[in-house]
Amino acid sequence: MLSILIANSKGGCGKSTLTTNLSAALALAGHEVLLADADRQRSSLGWAKRRPKTAKPIVVADWNKGIGEIPKTVTRLVIDGPAGLRKELFEELVAQADLILMPVLPSAFDQEASQSFIEKLDALKSIRKNRKGVAIIGNRMRDRTRAADRLDKFLGGLGHAVIARLRDSQAYGEAAATGLSVFEIRGARAVIREDWRPLIDYVEHGVL
Ligand SMILES: Nc1ncnc2c1ncn2[C@@H]1O[C@H](COP(=O)(O)OP(=O)(O)OP(=O)(O)O)[C@@H](O)[C@H]1O
Ligand SMILES: [Mg+2]
Repeated sequence: MLSILIANSKGGCGKSTLTTNLSAALALAGHEVLLADADRQRSSLGWAKRRPKTAKPIVVADWNKGIGEIPKTVTRLVIDGPAGLRKELFEELVAQADLILMPVLPSAFDQEASQSFIEKLDALKSIRKNRKGVAIIGNRMRDRTRAADRLDKFLGGLGHAVIARLRDSQAYGEAAATGLSVFEIRGARAVIREDWRPLIDYVEHGVL
């Protein structure tokens, strides 16, 4: 089983969006996915409740209540991290993860907060010793804007691979509202799927 933690202590940067869409993408690819929500806001659990019975099933668990023993049949665990991550929970979640994905928005405030989160992450022994993969995802990117250029420069200096850039699209909100992913709603543009290709490749094959 591969455990993937979606984390950034900055609120609203896209953790739950990444968690729910990645979980659905992996389920569609044939994985048995367990989505564990470690955020007390329970956004991912709410999403799963809205998920239509006809969609690919995703099993969910509330991390804060204890996820219990993970069934042997589960091949991917995706954990939605909370904002303002406290130290104890942070270390517990990182210990569980094989891979840590960190969404970052193209705003100066987000970059500052993300920088300090990365510093905390890099201070952990397992990360220093390269025992886990850490990758950054630029989120809500708009092409050819100065903010996007700035984010690109900033992301490049964080010392971890930038594996994908997800564009800003209403499709994410629409999918979230109906318990679906951008891969499952009608009318989502093909370029959105393209944005995800390097991310899925990285998770599935460690390919950059
Ligand atoms: N690529 C995107 N395009 C458009 N909207 C997006 C995108 N990513 C996220 N959003 C929207 O931004 C808002 C915040 O996203 P989300 O809830 O995933 O962030 P979060 O990091 O989980 O927040 P929190 O820290 O509160 O848990 C949501 O309304 C979501 O639909
Ligand atoms: Mg969230």
